[in-house]
Amino acid sequence: MVARERSGGMAVRCARRIGVAASVAANLAFLAMYIHRRYFGGGRSDGGGGSGKEITTVEPSKGKPPVTPDSVVNLDQGDPTLYDEFWRLMGGRATITIPGWQTMSYFSDLGGFCWFVEPGFERQVRRLHRLVGNAIVDGYHLLVGTGSTQLFQAALFALSPAEDGEPMSVVSPAPYYSSYPSVTNFLNSGLYRWDGDANTTFAGDTCIELVCSPNNPDGGIRKAVTKSKSGKTIHDFAYYWPQYTPITEAADHDIMLFTVSKCTGHAGTRLGWALVKDMEVAQKMTKFIELNTIGVSKDSQLRAAKILKVVCDGYELSPTSKVNLLFHFAQRKMAERWSRLRAVVATSGIFSLPDKLSSYCMFAKEVVSANPPFAWLRCHKDGVEDFESFLRERKIITRGGSKFGVDERVVRISMLDTDEAFNVFLGRIASLK
Ligand SMILES: Cc1ncc(COP(=O)(O)O)c(C=O)c1O
Repeated sequence: MVARERSGGMAVRCARRIGVAASVAANLAFLAMYIHRRYFGGGRSDGGGGSGKEITTVEPSKGKPPVTPDSVVNLDQGDPTLYDEFWRLMGGRATITIPGWQTMSYFSDLGGFCWFVEPGFERQVRRLHRLVGNAIVDGYHLLVGTGSTQLFQAALFALSPAEDGEPMSVVSPAPYYSSYPSVTNFLNSGLYRWDGDANTTFAGDTCIELVCSPNNPDGGIRKAVTKSKSGKTIHDFAYYWPQYTPITEAADHDIMLFTVSKCTGHAGTRLGWALVKDMEVAQKMTKFIELNTIGVSKDSQLRAAKILKVVCDGYELSPTSKVNLLFHFAQRKMAERWSRLRAVVATSGIFSLPDKLSSYCMFAKEVVSANPPFAWLRCHKDGVEDFESFLRERKIITRGGSKFGVDERVVRISMLDTDEAFNVFLGRIASLK
């Protein structure tokens, strides 16, 4: 009897313990689920009418219409759709999910140098530069912008006006990037004004020189040419990446602009960054962006951080894998396109291109050839004075030399478009005699 009572009591105690353990386990599971949803955005996100179906992808955005053998082929802008193939190969690796309740505050990092820079984005940018070796990051302030286009304007604002209060002259050697004059003069600012070709304009001491290297449109490697005492320069390094040019030094200029548009191909994310040496200049640039757009999209920064992480991980965590190396992928594609274009130009008898440049690349650790993002194509055919119009009549849209401060017998052609567009373009060029 006593033994039965004892064993009965034990059974009750045991059942109670199991009950408590089960309840603790259930609570822990609930807590884990809550934390996961709260901080990692997991769990249900009701799509169609509360069906509970998880929605992690968005409808594809259309972009430019596809090119067919008979359609117009538009290679005017440097729309970097060449990279689409690489990111498809990466599958879900660069996917992020941002729940509706995240990234709502204006602020990213109130304790940091710039309140709207996402720390995760800054970390990946610095990591990427250390990996590639194209720019010094230690001792530099990092700012983010809505494309490097916004940072360019922020830099003009920060470096102006001249000491005597006069507008700063903004110059760049021709052929210069066609957006420089239009963006500089767009608002008719009293702080700065476009003054043209740095080789022919005497801008004195009140000048800001835009140094684009490799240069858009002709791919040339550039150093500042003006000799102003104030020595104000903005280095536009949109294309200083290994797929376009050998990396010959870690750049350490006062203001250096970069963009994901041409580094990874994510032009639609609209994200650029600036490395700025001087704190006061960096603060003024920050002020410009604060007044212009009250910061920069956090969603874009989180996405870009993930994309740059995938690029760095590809090299640092699985360097022997051949598929997930972005710069190698893009370098191969560009080199192949350039070799096909050069072959067509060589047999045409009426076209020419700038000479091929090669150097030792510190990133590739070998001598490599440059593969500029644009072909700067000159036409020598008699009677063709306006090459852009000549090509337009043949359904090829390009950008003519006058927009870059030079003559009309040369055009800029994007090398960054889809395979379809490039192939149709090449076929049409090959047929011109
Ligand atoms: C030399 C150069 N700088 C800046 C930009 C603008 O880049 P983002 O897309 O970051 O505004 C471009 C775009 O074509 C460019 O060619």
